[in-house]
Amino acid sequence: MDFSVKLSSPESLKTGCLVVPVTEGGKLGALGAQLDGACNGGIKALLALGDITGKAGDAGVYGAPEGMKAQRLLLLGVGNTEGLDEAGARKALQKAYATAKTTKTADLAFLLEDFPLKGLDLAWLVQRACESGAGATYVFNDFKGKDKQTTIALAKTLFVVSEKPLQKALNEAARVGQAIANAMDRAKTLGNLPANVCTPTYIAEEAQKLADSHEKIQLTVLEEKDMRKLGMNSFLSVSAGSHQPAKLVLLEYKGGKAGSAPHVLVGKGITFDTGGISLKPGPDMDQMKFDMCGAATVFATMQAVAELNLPLNVSAALACAENMPSGTATRPGDIVTTLSGQTVEILNTDAEGRLVLCDTLTYVERLKPASVIDVATLTGACVIALGNEVAGMWSNNDALADRLKAAAQTSQDKIWQMPLWDEYQKMLDSPFADMANIGGRAAGSNTAAAFLARFTKQYEWAHLDIAGIAWVSSGPEKGASGRPVPLLTQYLLDRCK
Ligand code: BES
Ligand code: MN
Ligand code: ZN
Repeated sequence: MDFSVKLSSPESLKTGCLVVPVTEGGKLGALGAQLDGACNGGIKALLALGDITGKAGDAGVYGAPEGMKAQRLLLLGVGNTEGLDEAGARKALQKAYATAKTTKTADLAFLLEDFPLKGLDLAWLVQRACESGAGATYVFNDFKGKDKQTTIALAKTLFVVSEKPLQKALNEAARVGQAIANAMDRAKTLGNLPANVCTPTYIAEEAQKLADSHEKIQLTVLEEKDMRKLGMNSFLSVSAGSHQPAKLVLLEYKGGKAGSAPHVLVGKGITFDTGGISLKPGPDMDQMKFDMCGAATVFATMQAVAELNLPLNVSAALACAENMPSGTATRPGDIVTTLSGQTVEILNTDAEGRLVLCDTLTYVERLKPASVIDVATLTGACVIALGNEVAGMWSNNDALADRLKAAAQTSQDKIWQMPLWDEYQKMLDSPFADMANIGGRAAGSNTAAAFLARFTKQYEWAHLDIAGIAWVSSGPEKGASGRPVPLLTQYLLDRCK
């Protein structure tokens, strides 16, 4: 979807559908009132029907009254005049897109200045609208015949403003929102692609294309032989049973001062997780094609960073492998020596994410990072703890945790901090090696984070467990969510200030 800001009076704006906010009691804002005047009270007449009272959640589309250039009016309830908070604003935007989608309009225009906001500004609203618009119009038709394809007419959003200085300020917000929207689309498609297409090799090829199209991005791919030479035996133990070679894909974006420490993102990129010899049960196993959503969102965030030309150095390490059972697969009880020199007894080959991540986390030490954030569909236990709307966050540094929480609040891409206490460390004890790769059923997402913490002592680090939020598991909305692209992009935008 395309997003742009347009300077225009409400009555002279040409659009398929104009969104006019209505507050409780059926009241119009300043521009809505102006528009109502231009059409001789045509909007008030519609409100008099009583369908739209202005309460949050109200929405209706009408043929536009005579006197304006718009074809349709979408009257949108935005609650009382105290204004919308973050959650309320997001709901209103989503409602506007969902309602517009029931028509054949090709574009949607927001009468932006009439939105009542509580402690939020219009730039914020524009960015959130871009995310909602991208969410409402994303389709994945790559593998469908013509008659089965989903088509959505809505392809363009206009943010209508009445004055030039505001237009200038919001152009920047729309540019940022557009990049986030594009990146979310990108992350979703990478996630939705089946595992017979989206292999570690495919991800490396896509990374090559990204690097080719942006001067400031460099690509390095570590092949299995490179990893073997370095001693990344834990990483290699995961791909041992697969015909698909593992790849560590390193993207380095240099937009900051030469030599300034990079912000490093690490993504779990298991292109399919069967569990390996510790085979997963059959039902829903198809969903394990989404086990590379950490890598997909980190990849997409790099695309946004490059598109926005951010004045930062940002690096991404995508830990890509396929976890399969076979005669060459890793067995429960096998012991590997990690790149850090610590040994791991692999009690469960289905706890493979931490095995590719630990070596990648050690590898990125050499980038001398400002901080490292890993993003992983790491544990089913995190879904049990926090559900499908909130990601888990662990950190060894309070300032970094606070920066992530602030970005989550702004983007409404929610996270909740979980503990990294020593109590969880002893659950990883092994009688045969420095540690086991699992800690038992209790506190499964915390012991997974505790495992990673043993490999991140050299820098400021945070871990995001996105197992619950990375995709929608059933229904018509089944598919990758594109989260936490908004969080990661906002976090990096905040670092530019
Ligand atoms: N990719 C899974 C985690 C997962 C499961 C994400 C379900 C989303 C939905 C991960 O590799 C895994 O299998 N984790 C195990 C760990 C256990 C063996 C300690 C799990 O969560 O069951
Ligand atoms: Mn697994
Ligand atoms: Zn996994």
